[in-house]
Amino acid sequence: MRDFTPVLLHPECQVGADLAAWLAVGGGEGLQAALDAPGDVVAELREAELRGMGGAGFPTWRKWEAAAQAPSASGDRYVVCNGNEDEPGTFKDRHLLRWTPHQVIEGALIAAVAIGANHVVLYVNPHQDDSLRSVREAIAQWQDSVLFTRIEQTLGSALQLSAVATSGRYIGGEETAVISWLEGSFPFPRRKPPFPAQSGVSGAPTLINNTETLANVPHILRRGAAWYRALGVAHASGTKLYSLSGDVLNPGLYELPMGTSLRSLIFGCGGGMLEGKAFKAVFTGGPSNTLLTAADLDVALDFDSVRERHSRLGTGAMIVISEGTSIVRKVAEYIEFFAAGSCGQCPPCKGGTLQMARLLDRIDTGYGTQDDLRALDNLCRILPGSGRCGLIDGAVTVVESSLRTFPQEYGLPSC
Ligand SMILES: Cc1cc2nc3c(=O)[nH]c(=O)nc-3n(C[C@H](O)[C@H](O)[C@H](O)COP(=O)(O)O)c2cc1C
Repeated sequence: MRDFTPVLLHPECQVGADLAAWLAVGGGEGLQAALDAPGDVVAELREAELRGMGGAGFPTWRKWEAAAQAPSASGDRYVVCNGNEDEPGTFKDRHLLRWTPHQVIEGALIAAVAIGANHVVLYVNPHQDDSLRSVREAIAQWQDSVLFTRIEQTLGSALQLSAVATSGRYIGGEETAVISWLEGSFPFPRRKPPFPAQSGVSGAPTLINNTETLANVPHILRRGAAWYRALGVAHASGTKLYSLSGDVLNPGLYELPMGTSLRSLIFGCGGGMLEGKAFKAVFTGGPSNTLLTAADLDVALDFDSVRERHSRLGTGAMIVISEGTSIVRKVAEYIEFFAAGSCGQCPPCKGGTLQMARLLDRIDTGYGTQDDLRALDNLCRILPGSGRCGLIDGAVTVVESSLRTFPQEYGLPSC
């Protein structure tokens, strides 16, 4: 692995809620650049090739452009930093919000300047109470700062900057559920379109970005798109945070150049497998994605290369499994999580996840029959696309991937 200085996890950035300390290490310079030329921000993000770190890897500039251009009947416009982070194996956003809230808030403030928003909301999971406290302290310091006054002058209106505790539910992180919650309702997802950038909180254009996505923005505006792109390996741009967990010697949060190999992450940063066991598989990008195996260890971890292996980089959660661990058991646990997290609005999602969890449990405990396997396979065909949000699709993806990759564990012949 080449020499690399972390950006988001740079020790200088870990200043907690101390705004003066953040400004002393170059914080605020990105915001200053945005205030000097608000119209150039979207183009800079486009050139930097920044993509969403909340799961889908959607080009960030496209959303920002859409939110800036969408008409607003009320005159309101929202920026929301999504810090719900409630999926098993993901623990990056809580770290950023707890230890380096200013780089996240500065990213959200730059978004407000770029799209002309008069509301910025930091949406933080209350189960991570240290993060929520840190964000609240940090917000109070921004509100008293000279830079904040300059933002309001540039916007020509008052700016509401606030922290909102999420429902603490997994489903509450889905972007349309975020909107429902901010409007005072239960976090039920809605059908798209309209997309939040067109019609979000109370019908106003709403830009929703993941915490890690926004944390990158001040650095890009401060040092330029070319600098950011050059951080990545080969064609990949920037860096990525990885929540590495499971059967590795050194689980933890790592930042690596985008495009670093999966092998370097697991065997370099992670120190290899626990107790010298053999590597079996990794749930790449969290529990709602396709499994990668030993044959994929040299894949470059960037959005496009991982997608070529029919998987997704997702949030960068990497849950590593060693030989001797039952894939069926792991998948059963994740499907139970999805069944509990399904909001119940779409019967195929609630019923489908519960039924898949029941079938997986029967198979794992030795009570499964060929009919159970056929039923599981059928559900994988029927359920995708049957929900308002992506929960059911993610749940099916992991079941389908485990059936295809480890058929022998289900008592099926290997292909
Ligand atoms: C069930 C479900 C839960 C989600 N939870 C989160 C979450 O906790 N944090 C997050 O940033 N995105 C979450 N997402 C993705 C968001 O809907 C949205 O795509 C993301 O916040 C956009 O940010 P980005 O463009 O910066 O990646 C979730 C999606 C689904 C389907």
